[in-house]
Amino acid sequence: MALAYYQKHLLSFVAFLLLVNLHVEHSMGKEVVPVGVVLDLNSTVGGVAERCMSMALSDFYGVYDYYNTRIALLTRDSGKDVIAAASAALDLMKNEEVHAIIGPQSSAQAKFVIELGRKAQVPIISFSATSPSLSPAQNPFFIRTALDDSAEVKAIAAIVKAYGWREIVLIYEDTDYGNDLIPYLMDAFEEIETRMPYRSAIPPFSNNSEIAKEIKKLNETNARIFLVHMMASLGSKLFALANNAGMMREGYAWIITEGLSALFDTLGPKVKESMQGAVGLRPYIRRSK
Ligand SMILES: *[C@@H]1O[C@H](CO)[C@@H](O)[C@H](O)[C@H]1NC(C)=O
Ligand SMILES: *[C@@H]1O[C@H](CO)[C@@H](O)[C@H](O)[C@H]1NC(C)=O
Ligand SMILES: *[C@@H]1O[C@H](CO)[C@@H](O)[C@H](O)[C@H]1NC(C)=O
Repeated sequence: MALAYYQKHLLSFVAFLLLVNLHVEHSMGKEVVPVGVVLDLNSTVGGVAERCMSMALSDFYGVYDYYNTRIALLTRDSGKDVIAAASAALDLMKNEEVHAIIGPQSSAQAKFVIELGRKAQVPIISFSATSPSLSPAQNPFFIRTALDDSAEVKAIAAIVKAYGWREIVLIYEDTDYGNDLIPYLMDAFEEIETRMPYRSAIPPFSNNSEIAKEIKKLNETNARIFLVHMMASLGSKLFALANNAGMMREGYAWIITEGLSALFDTLGPKVKESMQGAVGLRPYIRRSK
């Protein structure tokens, strides 16, 4: 369940790649199509994505063995680093002459890599860079197989409106992923006349005592309705600490965005328990041809 969302997108773009018919090198009777993969292999999403892609390829060629082309995935571990992702992409394009790159994983990394792709005219296919500031419309070589984060803003506003909450405090990670959603949230809340009196930006590598301090500060403002927009690594710390601080009980309300709720099932039992009562959003995508 947890990663079904990512898996679905992965399968659809592996299928997409298989349909792309490019001129390719010959090798052992089959034409090899090199495709780069740039992911944070130490992360849950990156590790699962890598395994799913190789399974999808062997499943596909198990059925369509007669195809004349064979996709060869060339995987690079970028970690969370922006420069490492860009240099991996550059190396794959220049030295391996890949026909496309799957990844990179984060929006901050994608910002640079999609520029490199545009210059080299190599398609960059991302299933996890969801920042609305990355615009496929402005870059024909950027293909995004996930919904961007702004898609959930109206749903969040609808929940807030339904409960008649007049104020909400945003807690978000201080990265491109976290920051880029803010203008959309401001507009949506303005429309329903809900105030955002306070915003709390938490650096992604904060330690527990820093996060606990921020949580205490928030509690002292008497804020009771919170919207949390951050990746699972930071979010799992935040909720464990909020629970310790007694802020996960009656009288408080917590909403989490898709980045965290999509990975809910991969979180440890203690963290899951601390998130009891939080409302999470996940995208619903209709079946289509
Ligand atoms: C992945 O994790 C291992 C062990 O924790 C570490 O040594 C390695 O540097 C990490 N790789 C990246 C790219 O962060
Ligand atoms: C957390 O980070 C702060 C500031 O970077 C530092 O002063 C503090 O010692 C760290 N706490 C722990 C428990 O590592
Ligand atoms: C949070 O605020 C409530 C009420 O103002 C208070 O009872 C509680 O002790 C506070 N929790 C923390 C961790 O400061």
